[in-house]
Amino acid sequence: PDLDTLLNLYDFEYLASQILTKQAWGYYSSAAEDEFTHRENHAAYHRIFFKPRVLVNVKEIDTTTEMLGHKVSVPFYVSATALVKLGNPEEGEKDIARGCGQGELKCPQMISTFASCSLKEIIEAAPSKDQVQWLQLYVNTDRKATEKLIKEAENLGVKGIFVTVDAPSLGRREKDMKVKFQSPSSPANSKKPRTGSSQGASRALSTFIDPSLNWDDIAELKRKTNLPIIIKGVQRVEDVLKAAEVGVDGVVLSNHGGRQLDFARPPLEILAETMPALKERNLEDKFEIFIDGGVRRGTDVLKALCLGAKGVGLGRPALYANSTYGKDGVQKMIEMLTDEIEYDMRLLGVTSIKDLGPDLIDVTSLSNR
Ligand code: FNR
Repeated sequence: PDLDTLLNLYDFEYLASQILTKQAWGYYSSAAEDEFTHRENHAAYHRIFFKPRVLVNVKEIDTTTEMLGHKVSVPFYVSATALVKLGNPEEGEKDIARGCGQGELKCPQMISTFASCSLKEIIEAAPSKDQVQWLQLYVNTDRKATEKLIKEAENLGVKGIFVTVDAPSLGRREKDMKVKFQSPSSPANSKKPRTGSSQGASRALSTFIDPSLNWDDIAELKRKTNLPIIIKGVQRVEDVLKAAEVGVDGVVLSNHGGRQLDFARPPLEILAETMPALKERNLEDKFEIFIDGGVRRGTDVLKALCLGAKGVGLGRPALYANSTYGKDGVQKMIEMLTDEIEYDMRLLGVTSIKDLGPDLIDVTSLSNR
């Protein structure tokens, strides 16, 4: 259908379910085991309600904000997803880069270590100089390879490194395992994975990730680069505080879209506990909190921002938009979500992102699962 007839992010998902290959759909849509965390990531957003202000002049709405010191047009970003060529075989991640920068709105993009295009290709595909691109880092069992990747990212003008820590081994995604395939296009597959080709895409990638990674390595990584370092996949307040102690620049509260440990808590609940703990220690301005998992609506984004998130990540929605309409789909997805955010800010009685705060939401039911 004509792209203009699509109304919301779910429309991309439905179309993707209809047209993607079994492999791509299996890999993209799957989550760990019973997929309970995956469903709950989104369901948690249903347990927060708004307390709108009335009689506020909301003629002009401004959705711009800052992430890690860079101005961005929208308070969300496209999160790292591996193997984007499974759904868009010609252009892969390059089309995400284009979609994030070709329109008026510039949306940050986080690029996976397991991207199906090279980092250089993806950075060069970005149409705008004002575009923020980050590297998601899986620390390799071969630390030299990791150092090389960090240097490459620095040289290419990447603005931050998100180290994923929730995947010492990749989760059991049974839908994906059932499809039994080995990706044709991932650079990670240049070596034959120990697990063989019969266990799905995620199993094939997992042998490159170092399961011995620990807090000492994070301190070491910090010494290796001047780029901001953010830890992606933090799942408890105690670890947020540890990350602040180690001196990284932020964390992403995330359970990898429910693809790792099933029954991990929804990040939204952890966010609600995190900000008070940071405030108590006067850390809230020194340290940026990002969140992802289950974000599908402008209201979802606003709820996370009210709770103190700096930026909100989207995983599957970008994959579905890119797999169905390529770069124009990605641009459209960004516009749809921004339209929803603007509309909802107006109805909430708020004109700028910095005015969003906990007084605008009712979280009474948040922990009543
Ligand atoms: C991911 N995610 C992910 N994260 C990461 O740090 N490195 C990676 O290579 C990948 N790869 C990946 C592939 C696919 C198919 C999915 C769906 C997800 C996790 C991703 O960055 C993000 O945390 C979640 O996708 C957010 O949840 P939603 O928005 O998909 O619900």
